[in-house]
Amino acid sequence: MKKQLNDNLVKLVDILSDGQYHDGTHLGKMLKMTRSAIWKAIKKLEAHGVQIGSTKGKGYVLLEPLRLLDKYKISQQLTHKKIGLDVFEVLTSTNEYLKSFKHQTEIKICLTEKQTHGKGRLNREWYSPFGQNIYLSCYYPFRKDMSELAGLSLVTSLAIIKVLKLYGIAQNLFVKWPNDILYENKKISGSLVEIQGETNGVSHAVIGIGVNVNMIHHSSRHISQPWTSMKKILNVYIDRNDFCSSLINHLISYLHKFTLHGFAVFTEEWLQADCLTNKVVMLKNINEKVQGQVVGINEQGFLIVRLLDGAMRIFSSGDTSIIKETK
Ligand code: BTN
Repeated sequence: MKKQLNDNLVKLVDILSDGQYHDGTHLGKMLKMTRSAIWKAIKKLEAHGVQIGSTKGKGYVLLEPLRLLDKYKISQQLTHKKIGLDVFEVLTSTNEYLKSFKHQTEIKICLTEKQTHGKGRLNREWYSPFGQNIYLSCYYPFRKDMSELAGLSLVTSLAIIKVLKLYGIAQNLFVKWPNDILYENKKISGSLVEIQGETNGVSHAVIGIGVNVNMIHHSSRHISQPWTSMKKILNVYIDRNDFCSSLINHLISYLHKFTLHGFAVFTEEWLQADCLTNKVVMLKNINEKVQGQVVGINEQGFLIVRLLDGAMRIFSSGDTSIIKETK
């Protein structure tokens, strides 16, 4: 499923975002649309789960704050100008969309208001309701072999943490190797990096980022682990356009730095953000399930674990859960 985000829908929500009633005729005049087209747009928003009130003689009102993603507002604030930006109303998954591109030399960013099949790591679902959060993917070409991109998940996690800190979420914000961003042990963001090798030391990555921004409710059917959102923490509605621009700017800067210097230059920043060092963890990957104490990470971003029998092991992938705070 693929649907571009319509400019008129963005403008309609923009007008309604003042929280006042607006009648169909007035909205139609402002947007140069017929009343019936306005009614259809309202029905579309309702079908996406947006709460809209309507009263005879007064018109429509948004019952919860909402602003849609606006390609122009986001582009205006980008510091890296050579980026292809696509904004959709609905996609199956932003990662899947960008994975259909090959041999691109430009950086591409894809955003959507809703994913019907948002993917988390280890084949989990990433719950992606309309208009509330950030679902972003970045196609990034590297003049590097796939084997040199091991630290990419960690670099992505650090870029997300940097932006959340700029929004004032600094205390109790940590990264759990390699990609879980946790606030007070509840998940606020995660990333899914999919690397595709090409030839002659050229490769590209599709880096998918999900951030819980304005989500307040959900049914436990959709998210099984403890979660939080920026709005839950800060108690204010967050303008996702500003947030997106900042996230894209920081992500691209971090990726440029990684391209030039590799992961080693991020080690210090990682140590500041990491919540696993010294903890006793259970690590699961497709091959095994092991228990041990985390010693740290190596220069490539692999996790170093001292197993219960004292043997040191290095892991390039896996899912970790903390068993004991200290040994
Ligand atoms: C995880 O923590 O398990 C990774 C979550 C990654 C979710 C994002 S949302 C945008 C992009 N598109 C997807 O289908 N997944 C990633």
